[in-house]
Amino acid sequence: MTNDAAVSHSNHALRHGTAGPRPFGEGWPTEPREFWEHAYVNADNGRQWSGRANLVLTQVAAGLAPGTALDLGCGEGADVIWLALRGWRASGVDISPTAVARAQRAAASAGAATARFIAGDIAEAISSARVGALAVGRHADAAGTGTGTGTDAAVADSDVAFDLVSASFFHAPPTVELPRTLLLRRAAELVTPGGLLLITSHAAPAPWADGVPEGYRFLTPQEELAELALDEREWTIEACELRQREVNDPDGGPAPLDDGVVLARRRD
Ligand SMILES: C[S@@+](CC[C@H](N)C(=O)[O-])C[C@H]1O[C@@H](n2cnc3c(N)ncnc32)[C@H](O)[C@@H]1O
Repeated sequence: MTNDAAVSHSNHALRHGTAGPRPFGEGWPTEPREFWEHAYVNADNGRQWSGRANLVLTQVAAGLAPGTALDLGCGEGADVIWLALRGWRASGVDISPTAVARAQRAAASAGAATARFIAGDIAEAISSARVGALAVGRHADAAGTGTGTGTDAAVADSDVAFDLVSASFFHAPPTVELPRTLLLRRAAELVTPGGLLLITSHAAPAPWADGVPEGYRFLTPQEELAELALDEREWTIEACELRQREVNDPDGGPAPLDDGVVLARRRD
């Protein structure tokens, strides 16, 4: 196993009552920003995820010429940093200021100078010019305010485009609101002609999970694609598949995890 933020995801989101990382718990806040802040602030050892980039993202991006990238729900920034270290102007948005502060520190210590982060709700970041500020390479500080020159208002939504828009394990427990499909559809509009939309998701519970929390829905890649409802005149589907990888279960033994992968290219 080289990579695996998703080991932690599965531990936290779907496993209850056994040893290992603290599960997302009952009695936690349900308001999204409060929930994710609570998760990050209370993470064991001061971090929630592994710090390694997600495998699918690295597999897909390894074959691409660097350009501009946007990571939705970037967490502690591993995917953005991985991209930035390979020449991408990579930006991440996350609702948790604590996660973003960690991402910024990790980027600084990795020397990922072209990594940028916004702390904020993706819904707001997409509909304001804040994502635009990232797309044109201007800086954003930990509070998510643009610090570049010029006015953010000068960047019209229609001018905002990324060569790669990625969402890795953009999930939330059923108690926490996440208009996931809506946000992914809107994010798809930020892909530049010829660019890629990559969605990597949990397609099945981890083998060690004590069942699936009520209300939690795992989408197959085909269901994910159907929910996105991408216009086929505008998009070519390059992958819509399950990818299985070996991770360590909470007891350290090998266990398979199923990732759903949707990779779509916007036509020129
Ligand atoms: C399961 S984590 C995945 C983190 C990261 N992509 C990774 O693979 O390590 C989901 C992330 O989405 C973020 N998130 C949830 N709702 C959000 C929203 N509306 N806007 C921005 N980020 C959000 C959470 O804070 C969390 O970091």
